[in-house]
Amino acid sequence: MGILKVKVYPAEVLRERAGEVKNISGETKSLVDDMAQTMYAYEGIGLAAPQVGISQRVIVFDVGEGLVSLINPLILEEDGQELYEEGCLSLPGIMTEVKRARRILVKGVDLDGGEKELEVEGLLARVIQHEVDHLNGVLIIDKVSTIRRRLMEGKIRKLRKRGEWGR
Ligand code: NI
Repeated sequence: MGILKVKVYPAEVLRERAGEVKNISGETKSLVDDMAQTMYAYEGIGLAAPQVGISQRVIVFDVGEGLVSLINPLILEEDGQELYEEGCLSLPGIMTEVKRARRILVKGVDLDGGEKELEVEGLLARVIQHEVDHLNGVLIIDKVSTIRRRLMEGKIRKLRKRGEWGR
């Protein structure tokens, strides 16, 4: 497989609640592999499986400290609040400030089926929260004010009309 096409808003798969991975198979491993290749090819720092059209609870990220994949991630604790600018490969060219917890405790499963628990803050915490949102069908445009959302939707409409959206 290799590099996959990233689905852009308003693709339906981005709005679904992704299903739990019941058992980790060779298929899960190649999905993670393809997602990592895709994330690097698109120069993203995180990617969730629904973004490549697979409605499963799998995320990958790399904020410059190496590739991490998490299966069935679950945020157990959230602390503090921070406003910071974010983008999303499924909303190309759109940047907006999003409020998120500053520190989180997240658990998940790795490709060997081992339980993993990460306590992270700052950018890493932000990326994980962003990707877990994707697994619940939530996008950054859902996390801004109504006015800001209208502006963003207007911009997207224009780009779509011009055929410049999601190439
Ligand atoms: Ni995203």
